[in-house]
Amino acid sequence: MQQAMNDKVYTDHQSKMAGVLAGIRLEFEGRPEELIPVLQKTQAAVGFLPEEALLEIARFTKLSPAEVFGTATFYSQFRLKPVGKQMIRVCRGTACHVKGGARILREVEKQLGIKPGENTADFEFGLETVACIGACALAPTLVINSDTYGQMTSKKVGEILRQRD
Ligand code: FES
Repeated sequence: MQQAMNDKVYTDHQSKMAGVLAGIRLEFEGRPEELIPVLQKTQAAVGFLPEEALLEIARFTKLSPAEVFGTATFYSQFRLKPVGKQMIRVCRGTACHVKGGARILREVEKQLGIKPGENTADFEFGLETVACIGACALAPTLVINSDTYGQMTSKKVGEILRQRD
């Protein structure tokens, strides 16, 4: 089942890839210093950076594949694997920790049956932890895509996940 979903996610991204890379060739000149914005643009469109995209980007920016892979793995903003459509980021910063952030993380893990770094089998949700998201007054917090949820409780975790499912 998980393998079938993985295959579907990879097939879906392959169908997007050609168009994305064609758009990048129009928008950028292919200079080595454009690498980071090209990676960002590709990831924003595809959801992650597949190996074939990195190879194509290396050709386009005239960098070696090792340089492109090195950059993509160095920065935490880049992902080399597909992630859930809704990325849940549970804050593990100090303020959230003090206010029970670990309990919120455990509740998300329990409700979705996944650990940080994993996705649900249908790739609807992905989970990771982050350092402070800059909303300490609302601790404990979590973010789902671009939506911030504050003063989280275990009960609110369930309500939010049900609403977003
Ligand atoms: S520590 Fe969680 S938002 Fe700042």
